[in-house]
Amino acid sequence: MILDIKGAQRLDSRGNPTVQVEVKTAHGTFRALVSSGASTGAHEAVELRDNDQRRYGGKGVLTAVNNVNEIIGPALIKGGYDPHYDLKQIDGFMRELDGTPNKAKLGANAILGVSMACARAGAAAANIPLYEFLRRESGEESPYIVPVPFFNVLNGGKHSGNGMAFQEFMIAPTGAKTIEEGVRMASETYHVLKQIIAEKFGAIYTGIGDEGGFAPPITQPEEALDLLTEAVAKAGYTDKIKPSILEEAEGASAEGGSNVQSDADDIKTPNQMMELYNSLMEKYPIPLLEDPFAEDDWESWTKFCTNYSEELVGDDLLCTNVERLRMAESRRACNAMLLKVNQIGTVTEAIDAAKLAKSLDWGVFVSHRSGETTDDFIADLTVGLGTGHIKSGAPCRGERVAKYNRLMDIETELKGSWKPWSYAGEQFRKPDPF
Ligand code: PGA
Repeated sequence: MILDIKGAQRLDSRGNPTVQVEVKTAHGTFRALVSSGASTGAHEAVELRDNDQRRYGGKGVLTAVNNVNEIIGPALIKGGYDPHYDLKQIDGFMRELDGTPNKAKLGANAILGVSMACARAGAAAANIPLYEFLRRESGEESPYIVPVPFFNVLNGGKHSGNGMAFQEFMIAPTGAKTIEEGVRMASETYHVLKQIIAEKFGAIYTGIGDEGGFAPPITQPEEALDLLTEAVAKAGYTDKIKPSILEEAEGASAEGGSNVQSDADDIKTPNQMMELYNSLMEKYPIPLLEDPFAEDDWESWTKFCTNYSEELVGDDLLCTNVERLRMAESRRACNAMLLKVNQIGTVTEAIDAAKLAKSLDWGVFVSHRSGETTDDFIADLTVGLGTGHIKSGAPCRGERVAKYNRLMDIETELKGSWKPWSYAGEQFRKPDPF
């Protein structure tokens, strides 16, 4: 039974306010902190901000916190819900209490904080780790999968101040045998990359962006991919780390095309962007592209996906929303979903979206937000759902490494148990351990 629910305003990794929720049961007090995006999709659930310019530049979340303390908490306690058995009912009840299609009344940040803290309370009541609880909630039965971490080591777009419009360039240790080895490879490569950047551009450019990656003064995707290729080779991991992965140019629109260089007028049409992606894919071993086109440019997505064999991930396109997934499926627009829990606003709906994606034979790629906290919930979620890959930024900054550290703890725990498990490695898209 829930004895108490307390919301509070705390800070995220960008120094902006965010919602913290504590759920008290007979088994203890369980906390969750909610993350927040910068390049948010138009179809995401609503993050409630106070818009009071006198406090935190309008970004305060006291209204959402108040909704936790005055509306959601008392209603859940009165309803007699038990997080051990009732997470689906708790999440469904909060959706009804909100009554809007996108959680605009109570705020997805308020609702999600309660949902996550309840999941933790449920796991404690069942006396099992959180990943096990989430696995049970999702009905997952296959062997345990430890995901390949995708490290965003070069930042652009809204996450840094350089002229690079592409938001993320990641490295993925698909050739490692365990996540512990993968983290080591990525961390070593990250430090080699830092040295290369210092030598090429000067030490002043080894400062980092929102997700812990470097932001050197480069503007073209080839420059970024060449830097990664060099760093991976110098670190000695060619063939073991995929030195690639990029994300859509910020500001892409169906009509206007994409801006490749954010501080210049280098606008490309969707067809030109397709040519660019194809030429990059030919030159570099890129196993995954995320949001290559604008979120409502279905035509380009479908056209590109038809002739594309690697993983094509919908982030803003899908917003972890089953309705958007169905739209994408009927249009054959992508073959994987980025899973961000706060895009949809409850743990149950995020699980439902992942289950639908899997049933369509799509990949599921779990993701942090650019405004994060030290809450490591998504590490357990990834293992619970067996998604095979996760991105949580660079191997640097406390809020980023919190997830990687938790995953290494989970791997250690699995190693010492009877449970059949494996590191997803090259099979990250559709992990098939045995
Ligand atoms: P965000 O992007 O700014 O929308 O959180 C984060 C990401 O996709 O890594």
